[in-house]
Amino acid sequence: MSDLSHRKRKHIEVCLHEDVQYATRTTGFERWDLPYRALPETHLGEIDTRTSFLGRELAAPLLIGAMTGGASLSGLINRNLAVAAQRLGLGLMLGSQRVMLEDPAAAPGFKVRRYAPDALLIGNLGVAQLNRGYGPERLREAVEAIDADALALHTNPLQEAVQHGGDLDFSGLVARLREVVPAVGHPVLLKEVGHGLSGAVAEAVRDVGFAALDVAGAGGTSWAKVEDLANHGAVRHPDLVEWGIPTADALVEVHAAAPALPLIASGGIRSGVDIAKALALGASVAAVAHPLLGPATDSPEAVEAVLRRLTFELRVAMHAAGAGTLAELRRLSLRPR
Ligand SMILES: Cc1cc2nc3c(=O)[nH]c(=O)nc-3n(C[C@H](O)[C@H](O)[C@H](O)COP(=O)(O)O)c2cc1C
Repeated sequence: MSDLSHRKRKHIEVCLHEDVQYATRTTGFERWDLPYRALPETHLGEIDTRTSFLGRELAAPLLIGAMTGGASLSGLINRNLAVAAQRLGLGLMLGSQRVMLEDPAAAPGFKVRRYAPDALLIGNLGVAQLNRGYGPERLREAVEAIDADALALHTNPLQEAVQHGGDLDFSGLVARLREVVPAVGHPVLLKEVGHGLSGAVAEAVRDVGFAALDVAGAGGTSWAKVEDLANHGAVRHPDLVEWGIPTADALVEVHAAAPALPLIASGGIRSGVDIAKALALGASVAAVAHPLLGPATDSPEAVEAVLRRLTFELRVAMHAAGAGTLAELRRLSLRPR
């Protein structure tokens, strides 16, 4: 097994068996309430959660978040996630494809289009690779090799800094993105991995040509914590692993700084009520990662059960707030709690 695959395997084990959620920081959604409406004038059976995102239709504004399993587990995880996404009409963000670009034997594990012919499918690579020789051709190859609709680039300086042998050079990346992103020829997104994009970052990249930003804020899985636990078996750097921009705050800041860019709300999205609040705060769709990892190592049905709970809760939240459509949900003003 290559070093990269070995590390990814370790990440999965840590994510499955240790507590990798933030211990002291929350998403901030608990600071907001949806306005409850006792006479909503809606019919629960007719709540319409359909939307489109990056050119694909979605039955609800929900994507499966990016999770890589490395060479050995990606096949099983990605297949179960893809089948569930297709059955429920939801989107799928795949985990980092670096392992497949560097080891062709890993490629079949990422080729899930045949399991999800209609689903929004988003590939994934690390932005730091742009300082290690990756250019637009490599990014295009990542999208086209798996017949994806778009590519998400993750930016994760805190995680890489805590990782043994992680990428340390994030210098010059905004200028590099300005050259590379428009030349890829497919929609490109920027995402964090759970420490959050800020308004300042959104301002720096708003004219780069990204098709969307995924705030991937703090309050759910802390990737610095995953790295600490993977490297040392314990949290060595408690202040670093608890650092990040709460997802609700990241959404508000990023939406204000780049109002024209579609946003994905992720990082600690754990209920349909979180999804409803995220849309009312400016997100186009939400994404959920860690709660789907265990189910993804089991079966498509196990993944579907989690996703069905989330979409049921979203419909109930919309109904009891009097929003029959996502457009009406987006017009609601949340109440500070
Ligand atoms: C097992 C696992 C693997 C992940 N791998 C990737 C990855 O390869 N690329 C990426 O951009 N994010 C990756 N993430 C980060 C998630 O996409 C997401 O940003 C983060 O976990 C916060 O969302 P959550 O709180 O819903 O887990 C991974 C997350 C998990 C749990």
